[in-house]
Amino acid sequence: MPIEDTLQTLIPEAEVHARIEALARQIDADYAGAGEIVLIGVLRGAFIFLADLSRRLATPHRVDFIALASYDDGTRSSGVVRLIMDLRTSVTGKHVVIVEDIVDTGYTIAYLTEILQARHPASLRTCALLRKLERHEVDVRVDYLGFDIPDVWVVGYGLDYADRFRTLPYIGVVTPED
Ligand code: IMP
Ligand code: MG
Repeated sequence: MPIEDTLQTLIPEAEVHARIEALARQIDADYAGAGEIVLIGVLRGAFIFLADLSRRLATPHRVDFIALASYDDGTRSSGVVRLIMDLRTSVTGKHVVIVEDIVDTGYTIAYLTEILQARHPASLRTCALLRKLERHEVDVRVDYLGFDIPDVWVVGYGLDYADRFRTLPYIGVVTPED
């Protein structure tokens, strides 16, 4: 069966929007009076979530990006995270929020937290639209979480399957055949 024929809705667009709005209010409340913060989007999957979150934040903030890879292709985790593109700006002394599409095994967030912590930000928190708790292999903290989801392969809202489906306006599930 072609992969697009397996596509089903997991989280409708309106629910995603409402949840992102709530996350923005939570971040605004937590950083009230803290001055400017830096949102770090993890490319490529986080670009749509970051764009929506950023536009809903009242907290003054800058946006920077970092690119990592932990998957060779398809859906298999290699467990090894590589830095593909570093930040343009220094995070030393800044209040930093990492913005990820999804926390799966946890390796990406663990790696990012480690390399950014070494640059001595004033504070470092994590924000993820989705989390697959049952897939976690390392213990990671997500400070701002959109949704906990089961162990399925999700697409849309920036997330891809073999680089497809990123621009779907809702969170869908695809079921690859083995
Ligand atoms: P982790 O390092 O295993 O936590 O994986 C994090 C990265 O894997 C995410 O940023 C995504 O790019 C990718 N990923 C994990 N699960 C999915 C999924 O269900 N759909 C799309 N991408 C995923
Ligand atoms: Mg990602």
